[in-house]
Amino acid sequence: MYKIRIIGDPVLRKSTKKVTDFNDNIKRIVKNMIAVMHREDGVGLAAPQVGLDSSILVIDISGVEENELPTAFINPEIIEASGESVIEEGCLSIPGVREDVLRPDKIELVYNDEDGNSHKELLNGWKARVLQHEIDHLNGILFVDRISPVKRQLLISQEIIPEKY
Ligand code: CO
Repeated sequence: MYKIRIIGDPVLRKSTKKVTDFNDNIKRIVKNMIAVMHREDGVGLAAPQVGLDSSILVIDISGVEENELPTAFINPEIIEASGESVIEEGCLSIPGVREDVLRPDKIELVYNDEDGNSHKELLNGWKARVLQHEIDHLNGILFVDRISPVKRQLLISQEIIPEKY
């Protein structure tokens, strides 16, 4: 089973490649990623967090919103974003850190499901937030890149996150 990569691991800084062949291997990766997300009690998990370089993320927000199931988003791309909100975020790859992050509130998203079908969705609230955090991972971005420089410096000086990450 996959192991969660922790801040400082270079794989978290790599941009992922688009999935073009929607084969059984992709379905297996999705299944395993969902299992790891559940094991770690996360609401989302992106491929680089388990050392993979494919554009795949999974979310499960059934604990906070009704009628939600664990879902995979493959090759997700935000094509429109508006509004803003400040929400506290955490990350399985950055244990023990929770900080406020400002992001757009509403997003329009295109992605593939695990069978390769294309989807377009307009999202807001909690789901839009989780997806933005996970899509960042697919581009090598961590949420601590988006907090205030003063707070980030404090985390570094307290050795909670490494100076080079
Ligand atoms: Co994260």
